[in-house]
Amino acid sequence: MHAYSGPFALADQDSYIAWRKQKLQTPPCPPFVTVDAEQGLDVAGRQAIAEHCRRHNFALFRFTEPPADPEEALRQLGRHFGLKDIDANLCAEDSGLTEITVKNTGTDNAYIPYTSRPIGWHTDGYYNPMHQQIRGMLLYCHQPAMEGGISGLMDHEIAYIRLRDQNPEWIRALMAEDAFTIPPNVEGGVQIRPATVGPVFSVDDDGHLHMRYSARQRNVEWKDDALTQEAAAALLALFENDDPFILEWSLQAGEGLISNNILHRRTGFMDSPDPKQKRVFYRARYHNRVRPNATVIIEE
Ligand SMILES: [Fe+2]
Repeated sequence: MHAYSGPFALADQDSYIAWRKQKLQTPPCPPFVTVDAEQGLDVAGRQAIAEHCRRHNFALFRFTEPPADPEEALRQLGRHFGLKDIDANLCAEDSGLTEITVKNTGTDNAYIPYTSRPIGWHTDGYYNPMHQQIRGMLLYCHQPAMEGGISGLMDHEIAYIRLRDQNPEWIRALMAEDAFTIPPNVEGGVQIRPATVGPVFSVDDDGHLHMRYSARQRNVEWKDDALTQEAAAALLALFENDDPFILEWSLQAGEGLISNNILHRRTGFMDSPDPKQKRVFYRARYHNRVRPNATVIIEE
């Protein structure tokens, strides 16, 4: 393990206490930042999103009206924060953004995001190899469901605080290189993704906390020792608490979230019988975090 100092080092309790105090004094939810649907994000909006991401690891935005070309509008938005490095997952559309809607054909059926079923607490790309972790994520509501489909959000740094306050040894267990394993993905006898073994909490070279997590009980393997098992149970229990830092948002058309891949979930939903009215979200994943001072590079 690296010899970290700073708030995420168990040995550096002073840094932790100072950082924790400031973190818990910040109101749990930042206000929505308005994005002009035609002009894009202005300087004040850029500063606000960067500041919200710095303090909360996420920012909420709302277009003045849902853009006619959401994919282009979202790409532009992401570029303000250096978010260009999009993860090519199994179902990504060519544009690099993934449209998330109920799909009834082909292999999509096997993936819960493309159904109306609930998705439990997780961070994106927890099954990715350790050198391709997802540190940034953008989620956008083009059209909400007729009923349900509510997003739950929790800053992963708050999860860290809740666990460390209960038992710092749980943090040590969750930072072990073999704490959490996702078995290989095998379809039709062919391995399409190898097993991923890694920590739940890790600290990037630049000192930021990263979390790799899924609350699912099947197809995940926790290290078989008492502390890791206790820590996994404590994480699950966290989401059952009435914690003011667990936020619920029913995103409306034109609203979205830009984040450092915080913990999130989705409740199940019911679509309108009219196929033109069904729930449509867009999601983009990035290998880097939200960069507050990124300059926009015009790519023509
Ligand atoms: Fe997700």
